[in-house]
Amino acid sequence: MAPYLEVLQDENANDFLSYEKPKVADSFDFERKNLAVATDLVRAALVTEVNNIDHDVCDAGDEDSFFVADLGEVYRSYQLWMEKLPQVHPHYAVKCNTDVEVVKLLGSLGVNFDCASKTEIDTVLGLGFDSLRIVYANPCKTNSFIRHARNVNVNLTTVDNGQELHKLKKFHPECDILIRIATDDSTAQCQLSTKFGCSLNCAVDELLPLCKLLQLNVVGVAFHVGSGAKDFDSIYRAVKEARYVFDRAEQLGMRMTVLDIGGGFERESFDKSSEMVNLSLNKFFPSTYTEQNGIRFIAEPGRFMVANSFTLATHIIARRDLNVEGMEAMIYINDGVYGNLNCILFDHQHPTAKVLKHDGEVYFEDNTRTETTDAKRKEFSFSIWGPTCDGLDCVSTKMILDANVQVGDWLYFSNLGAYTSAATTSFNGFSSRANVKYVMLATLP
Ligand SMILES: Cc1ncc(COP(=O)(O)O)c(C=O)c1O
Repeated sequence: MAPYLEVLQDENANDFLSYEKPKVADSFDFERKNLAVATDLVRAALVTEVNNIDHDVCDAGDEDSFFVADLGEVYRSYQLWMEKLPQVHPHYAVKCNTDVEVVKLLGSLGVNFDCASKTEIDTVLGLGFDSLRIVYANPCKTNSFIRHARNVNVNLTTVDNGQELHKLKKFHPECDILIRIATDDSTAQCQLSTKFGCSLNCAVDELLPLCKLLQLNVVGVAFHVGSGAKDFDSIYRAVKEARYVFDRAEQLGMRMTVLDIGGGFERESFDKSSEMVNLSLNKFFPSTYTEQNGIRFIAEPGRFMVANSFTLATHIIARRDLNVEGMEAMIYINDGVYGNLNCILFDHQHPTAKVLKHDGEVYFEDNTRTETTDAKRKEFSFSIWGPTCDGLDCVSTKMILDANVQVGDWLYFSNLGAYTSAATTSFNGFSSRANVKYVMLATLP
């Protein structure tokens, strides 16, 4: 066991080193007991940063919103995946959060990668990971990106229509191909099958014969049940359909060896979703069949790996008092839907704001609270707005906070690791990249 890192990129690192560092546990349960301590570490990082900012004299940019990333939480996600689905090799969906420390950590643990563009491929390769660890999981690709994939030796991709097969034949004929089939993702937080994935008929009647005709290496099937999936029966149906495609491929003399079960997993529902994966694989891809045919399982989890590991801190830049029953004021913060809270628009998230620091007092959750401090805390309603001039830039029409917050106070949003920093804009000239302070309470193997 060698230590990976305690705190990265933080000049106040020593403040955190006094924490007792437990060894990484063999089981997830043991790790769970240490979560309070990990929360302390996040708290220390938030408070240290916020205390260093004097809004009266700081330079523009010094008081920007920032993240605290708990890499230990990423590690715990990885551990949980390996515990529940050890036979399914995860390829982290880089699009979800392209933070290089996250990508480095997951890669160093043996997690592979799902890339959807040239830049994502280059990010992974730039960190020194082998191109053969990448699945280029975007069924509709720019010609030049396909040529780039061939040049850098990325040799596994997904396809869901005939035109793409012709493009691959022209630009990357040696590439291994996974046929992406559509799923029923109607109840997912973000539906993907409205855009990608072919019907079962198309897969077996059009694409398989075309692969054969073009002499392309079709090696398996991919699907995605939607990001933030809620209906795990769709996993069962998709695995069943995938097996049907495997069987038809065999009848056509093509041997399939890879099943890619995509993403859509969340930590909160992983007991159920992983159980459904195991049940479906056991039924439709039993070990006798997979061993005989050398079949391997892969997945493309994004949200699962990072959602819970990032906390966003923002401060209140302006406040408009209201004479409205049940609503204290409109508050304006220095991040919004054009920045790291773009997940409200693009990912259908509803992030919860909490008070981080008000009137010099730290409110961040947990064990520092006493009955006296709690007694002072009442409920106040606010609408929360981002910093741009667009009326669409609304973070919440009603959020209840436990302080009557004022300009200069800080708020925080937990669980903002997925589909946040990856999709920011610089609209209105606001900074698009937030600083990240890293903490980690774990010793890696
Ligand atoms: C092809 C593909 N794979 C994986 C993912 C990651 O999904 P999730 O973050 O829900 O695990 C996505 C998300 O859009 C995707 O489009």
